[in-house]
Amino acid sequence: MKKVYLYARFQRFWHWMQALIIFSLLVSGLEVHGLFTLMGYENAFHVHNFFAWGLVTFIVLAFFWYITTGDFRQYLTEGNLIEKIMMQVRYYLIGIFMNEPHPFKKNEISRLNPLQRITYLMLTLVGLPLQIIFGFLYYYYNELVALGMNPDWIEPIALIHTLLAYMLISFVIMHVYMTTTGHTVTSNIKAMITGWEEVEE
Ligand code: HEM
Repeated sequence: MKKVYLYARFQRFWHWMQALIIFSLLVSGLEVHGLFTLMGYENAFHVHNFFAWGLVTFIVLAFFWYITTGDFRQYLTEGNLIEKIMMQVRYYLIGIFMNEPHPFKKNEISRLNPLQRITYLMLTLVGLPLQIIFGFLYYYYNELVALGMNPDWIEPIALIHTLLAYMLISFVIMHVYMTTTGHTVTSNIKAMITGWEEVEE
């Protein structure tokens, strides 16, 4: 085994800030939705809007970082993407329970497997932007109606925003489980805290 540096300081900071922001958005959002009472509707509404702006700010910063450092290349896959994803899915469904080795080895220039690449890419380029757009459509609904938007659109906007929130909850649950499937149960989480991970030579 050898130790490799996988996550730069900014990346770890961004990851945990993102986790904190999304967790706060989910809790305050579900309270605004009426699922439980924790801080009161009014406070939950303000907390939700505050963290929404926080998320937008951090996404802009992170995009800038991933592009200027060239780290976005970690998300590109060479060769047959579908075939590689299927190899990883087969590993998670069967291989992992038979102690088979991971189909893709980690190193500094390739820390994510093909399934992680596509999942994180879809989350960052499709899921979160859609959620933010629908959130802002919801927030500025009165202004948009005054500008000529059909008022009946409020229902589908609210429905899609809620649906995406539940999809995000499913992502977080799966994501946390998946992070325990590394070399040891905590090796991936330690790497996301310290930056360093032990990988096979
Ligand atoms: C709550 C919302 C969360 C989001 C949106 C999120 C998103 C992400 C993304 C995009 C990456 C890839 C980073 C990269 O390599 O470029 C990542 C990696 C990782 N995340 Fe999260 N994360 C969240 C929560 C968590 C939580 C709660 C944990 C652990 C308790 C966690 C543990 C990890 C670990 C260990 C990695 C390293 C790669 C891996 O094992 O998949 N994340 N996360």
